[in-house]
Amino acid sequence: MGTAQFAAETTPAAARHPVKTPITAYDARDEIALGILLQMANLPTEDITPEMLEHFLTAHAGNALVGAAGLEVLGEVGLLRSVAVDESHRGTGLGKRLVAAMEEHAREQGVRELYLLTTDAVDFFAGMGYRKLPREQAPAAIAGTAQFSNLCPSSAAFLVKTLVA
Ligand SMILES: CC(C)(COP(=O)(O)OP(=O)(O)OC[C@H]1O[C@@H](n2cnc3c(N)ncnc32)[C@H](O)[C@@H]1OP(=O)(O)O)[C@@H](O)C(=O)NCCC(=O)NCCS
Repeated sequence: MGTAQFAAETTPAAARHPVKTPITAYDARDEIALGILLQMANLPTEDITPEMLEHFLTAHAGNALVGAAGLEVLGEVGLLRSVAVDESHRGTGLGKRLVAAMEEHAREQGVRELYLLTTDAVDFFAGMGYRKLPREQAPAAIAGTAQFSNLCPSSAAFLVKTLVA
């Protein structure tokens, strides 16, 4: 593929948002917007506790919430969850930056292995080093989460990434 053709096919989303959307810790002022963002992305919200929100990251364009990522810290393992980017900002690299920022945060919390469930974004996470795992191999702490036991459809893929070997 020639450089010009590649540029024409890849610039639109990034060109609409040339400034990198800042990623910051969750703030309670985003409570309603976060609920809407996750619902629009078909992700569960009913099991999110105030303690979990201490491990959520958000991204804003101006005052608007356009991205989020969450983490359940369960000792040395963690559940990456609530990774969502508003349609307006998809394809700009924001999803990837949110996951990378959350991995860094998880490491700081002492998490060595990060698990997640997804129905629609297996390839997205595979591109970031996550690999599929049979559900039966889930550590007890992960198997006990609401996401794992009843909120995510049984068809959802189960993935893991080692953060600290
Ligand atoms: C998955 C999601 C967060 C990706 O956000 P995004 O900002 O569009 O992703 P990026 O722009 O960082 O994309 C990074 C790469 O992943 C690819 N990608 C993005 N979404 C993808 C998807 N759903 N499936 C496969 N690949 C995907 C992009 O093409 C890009 O590839 P490249 O690096 O080769 O160019 C977004 O599509 C979303 O909110 N989906 C709905 C919620 C969801 O399924 N969350 C995951 C479970 S928690």
